[in-house]
Amino acid sequence: MCGIVGYVGSAEAAPILLEGLRRLEYRGYDSAGVATLEEGIVSVRKEVGRIDDLRKAIAINPIGGSTGISHTRWATHGKVTRENAHPHFDRSGKLALVHNGVIENYASLRAQLEEEGHQFHSQTDTEVLAHLVGRAFDRCSERTPGALVSALREALGQVAGTYGIAIVHADLPGVLIGARRGSPLVLGIGKGEHFLASDVSAIVGYTRDVVYLNDYEIAVLSDEGFTLSTVQGNGADYSVTKVDMTEEDVGKGDYPHYMLKEIHEQVRSVTDAMRGRLSHEEATAKLGGLNMSNAELRTIERIVLSGCGTAFHAAMVGEYLIESLAQIPTECEYASEFRYRNLPMTKDTLVFVLSQSGETADTLAALRESKRKGHRTLGICNNVASTIARESDGGVYMHAGPEIGVAATKSFTSQVTILTLIALLLGRIRNLSSSAGTRIITELEALPAQIEKVLQLEPEIAKIAKRYAHSKVMLFMGRQFNYPVAMEGALKLKEISYIAAMGYPSAELKHGVIALVNPETPSVVIAPHDAVFHKNLSNIEEVKARGGPVIAIGTEGKGKELSLVCDDVILIPDAPEILTPILTSIVLQIFAYHIAVELGCDVDKPRNLAKSVTVE
Ligand code: F6R
Repeated sequence: MCGIVGYVGSAEAAPILLEGLRRLEYRGYDSAGVATLEEGIVSVRKEVGRIDDLRKAIAINPIGGSTGISHTRWATHGKVTRENAHPHFDRSGKLALVHNGVIENYASLRAQLEEEGHQFHSQTDTEVLAHLVGRAFDRCSERTPGALVSALREALGQVAGTYGIAIVHADLPGVLIGARRGSPLVLGIGKGEHFLASDVSAIVGYTRDVVYLNDYEIAVLSDEGFTLSTVQGNGADYSVTKVDMTEEDVGKGDYPHYMLKEIHEQVRSVTDAMRGRLSHEEATAKLGGLNMSNAELRTIERIVLSGCGTAFHAAMVGEYLIESLAQIPTECEYASEFRYRNLPMTKDTLVFVLSQSGETADTLAALRESKRKGHRTLGICNNVASTIARESDGGVYMHAGPEIGVAATKSFTSQVTILTLIALLLGRIRNLSSSAGTRIITELEALPAQIEKVLQLEPEIAKIAKRYAHSKVMLFMGRQFNYPVAMEGALKLKEISYIAAMGYPSAELKHGVIALVNPETPSVVIAPHDAVFHKNLSNIEEVKARGGPVIAIGTEGKGKELSLVCDDVILIPDAPEILTPILTSIVLQIFAYHIAVELGCDVDKPRNLAKSVTVE
């Protein structure tokens, strides 16, 4: 949510900053800005709109200098205007600052500064922070990086909230300063140049050697080197990490959209989620990252799975998986509710938090709340350098590669794959026989080839999607393992095509939703040939009896009954019911994608959304 890029070195800063912002545009794209140090002054360019608008403005009115900061915004405080776009300045106009996060007490600080005669030009919380740092620095007699760091410490001591920030000051040419609390910041080490970014994907084109800042750390960067210290004024240890992400990983390749690229990456991402984790010999899954022995896992009496959005839907599939394979009572909680709810949890409750980014504010808060209560809390994350990955007591990495399309796709199927492994492991140390374990492993191993077959259905799904693209409302339903997929299918559709869509358990139809059924409102029914197939079929009949069009997802070789009643049928390969969510969800990703394309929507950057919601 919002992106930061900073540069100090000997090259022209603006092109590097713009390229970094382009890579981060998926994090926020309301407005963007750049500030560089040029001959003793801070030059700034800001534009409302996309990075490309800023690039065009800079092409017309270039900005020089080899030290600079930049930002792409996802509005929290204040409307989307040029004034509210970052960077923001202090009273002197010499200090420029970009910020991710939220300063919770900005209103009272602003009132206090206004009383002192400070004038503000935006409605943002960030401008208050810039004024606080500038005011403290202007009271210092020295104009050194050390003095600016002291001023920053003083200012940060006054604010409540979260921040990832980057600062430049006209009096300190060749100096770039960053600090973090609750909003990620990574420092990139180049040759004679250094970088700051809120996400490593912004800088992998320039360096692979990075230092992830911890909360309450301040970094001072120059072309020659960098130092780290804490907000409290102590020294800080650091380790240099080699990033294994490549430029190709963060590019679109030949695909028109990241979302489509990531949908097609699922053969690999699901394979990678299982890689080295299946043991035929012991007929179970091996998940060393959980940091728990089988004896410890046996003591678990209850499991809570928590996450937001798509990760929550994956957790819902996990609830069915763990209960059916391991018979452990399992519950899903929206992270945003969990953090404030006083959920009664016995001491033998194990908590999993699920998050692709590992930075979602609500999920992180749920993790912290769970740990505060003394529960072992494990993470299922994609971003190995994320705060959730670092703060959890263990967990399972998704290894899905960067997910850049704002709509989550491959992260869902990776999360569900990992939850299947967890359910298998927990089942095998309880009531699941070794032959059942072996069967599940064999079925999991067959999954990538089945995903490949689903991906080959794209032209057929696209044709169907086009026919329904102009619907105003769409209903999604499924039962058991596929009830969460109905929720996820509806979420995918509404977030990228803006069609009102809702997902619910098929049998709930009769309890209210049926009132919405009419010839203009298609229903997508997920009805693979499983234990509840005939129940789903009855629900389809109920929709058809009221003139509602039905698109069904069924099973190859067993789709005849569906073809007789439904308007359109998409058939997935025959898979055991516990694994069908992985296949059916991919069908719905492709369906939503092609509807959005047909409607001319900006698939990778849907309105009002941003990847990784790092504010509450
Ligand atoms: C939906 C979507 C969001 C995320 C949610 C959690 O397509 O992308 O609903 O799933 O914001 O994000 P992570 O998994 O990063 O915690």
